[in-house]
Amino acid sequence: MKDIRILVGSVYGGALMTARAIKQTLDTEGYSVQVLENPVLSDITSDTSPLLVCTSTTGQGEVPGNLLPFYVALREQLPQQPGRPFGIIVLGDSSYGDTFCGAGELMEEALYETAARKVGETLCIDALETQEPESEALPWVREWVAAVFV
Ligand SMILES: Cc1cc2nc3c(=O)[nH]c(=O)nc-3n(C[C@H](O)[C@H](O)[C@H](O)COP(=O)(O)O)c2cc1C
Repeated sequence: MKDIRILVGSVYGGALMTARAIKQTLDTEGYSVQVLENPVLSDITSDTSPLLVCTSTTGQGEVPGNLLPFYVALREQLPQQPGRPFGIIVLGDSSYGDTFCGAGELMEEALYETAARKVGETLCIDALETQEPESEALPWVREWVAAVFV
């Protein structure tokens, strides 16, 4: 089974809806996707499946509150995940300037510190450009899974 765990960070539900749309699509294509709405570190240390971060950005380039405990624990404990594939989808709003999609950068840095391996470029979805983040996320995720499960 091709397992994927999605780590969700969302304030108003956009990133959560995007993660659910990804699950709905991939589950019908032979993948087994788990959407983690309130992830904890043991969700990733208990297995080795590829990780997909699907988070929005809040505050001034910060990680949403539901993902923050995971992020803090990851940074503090740095459980080593050598070579583990991960991808990043981040929602933001380019009117925030320098902090645009900042939560994606924070998650990426933290995962790199665990020696995990990023697959694909970060997908940055700009709320100024689209009202339907899933319409950008689904084509991206198809390429991502193709690169992860080669
Ligand atoms: C209070 C607040 C702060 C935000 N700060 C940022 C930010 O620093 N950088 C950014 O790119 N987007 C920022 N955004 C935009 C959100 O990330 C964007 O609207 C996203 O689509 C929301 O997704 P969600 O519904 O999953 O929370 C902010 C939005 C709000 C309401």
